[in-house]
Amino acid sequence: MQKIKWGILGTGRMAEIFTTELQYLPMASVQAVGSRDIHKANTFADRFKIPERFGSYENFVRDASVDVIYVATPHSFHKENTLLALEAGKHVLCEKPFAINFQEADVMIQTAHHKGLFLMDALWVHFTPLMQWLKMSVEEGYLGNLGMFSGAYGYAMAFDPSSRIFNPALGGGALLDVGIYPLSTSIRLLGIPEDVVALAKRGNTGIDERTGCVMKTGDGKISVFYTAVINQMPLDFTVMGEKGIITVPGPWWHQDRLIIKPVSGNPQEKTFPFEHRGYGYMAQHVMMCIQNGVTESPILPHSQTLSIMNTMDKIRQAIGLTYPMEEKMLP
Ligand SMILES: NC(=O)c1ccc[n+]([C@@H]2O[C@H](COP(=O)([O-])OP(=O)(O)OC[C@H]3O[C@@H](n4cnc5c(N)ncnc54)[C@H](OP(=O)(O)O)[C@@H]3O)[C@@H](O)[C@H]2O)c1
Repeated sequence: MQKIKWGILGTGRMAEIFTTELQYLPMASVQAVGSRDIHKANTFADRFKIPERFGSYENFVRDASVDVIYVATPHSFHKENTLLALEAGKHVLCEKPFAINFQEADVMIQTAHHKGLFLMDALWVHFTPLMQWLKMSVEEGYLGNLGMFSGAYGYAMAFDPSSRIFNPALGGGALLDVGIYPLSTSIRLLGIPEDVVALAKRGNTGIDERTGCVMKTGDGKISVFYTAVINQMPLDFTVMGEKGIITVPGPWWHQDRLIIKPVSGNPQEKTFPFEHRGYGYMAQHVMMCIQNGVTESPILPHSQTLSIMNTMDKIRQAIGLTYPMEEKMLP
């Protein structure tokens, strides 16, 4: 089987983690890296033994002989960088959050459709064997009718106005950075919410430092989740149905076991494979799609990415959070 050639756009923390994970996959070859700075591109390329390196994103997408580009820049550049790669005829895996808002995400997806290229949201947590089993099992009625979801994802980071986490111009804040994980899990398990209420503590830079949210689907399933970048959390989630509950202990995104508590009987533990840091499951799926000429993931379809973005827009509306680049988008 022919190898899939990857290009890495950006040389930050996620670019390093993902490139390391690709090296475990026999089907993957990392062919090129693009940075705004040729020195950073050279350092990254030397470290990972990448043959091609570029000191501008424009030259990288145009010249690199790659099949798929992994976009690993701050949120506020996802749309621009993804469009650049698509316009150059490259398939794209774009880091989460896929975009700043629904409007941006829609343009990215329409462009991929128009070009006939693969495009996916890099919400890797939904590709692990545990999360795949959980989704399939609840869909098949393992817990009977589902009723509720509760979950959390957050951490305490020292305030640093220069970090992308606290910088509104880079799409900073808890919801877009980490709240998206329980939110997207809830959407995948319970469905798309119709009603959303939320409260947030906004920090000095204006971003949401901690947010709590309650959501309800049209058929009455309720989800409660919370997220923060200034305090620690339990980092687990629970899905609740009429026949029992399933808890994935924290940290749930790096987890190989879950606990099933049926209405009657003893709790049971179920374990799953979990290799390296877990990103390989998503990368393997992307490569299978590209290998088979599939332009939209059947596991994480574009409609779901748009629902996630739309729900985050509603939550931000509830907490009054608008990003600087959105002011330019207003009519
Ligand atoms: N999937 C996950 O588990 C996970 C975990 C963490 C983060 N993420 C996502 O990955 C994305 C990148 O996060 P990160 O933590 O890797 O960020 P980071 O360490 O700050 O790196 C971002 C990279 O983007 C490039 N960049 C382009 N314009 C920039 C600008 N104006 N300011 C700063 N950097 C700029 C830089 O590369 P060059 O200088 O080389 O151009 C930089 O190294 C975010 O959207 C984040 O949500 C995902």
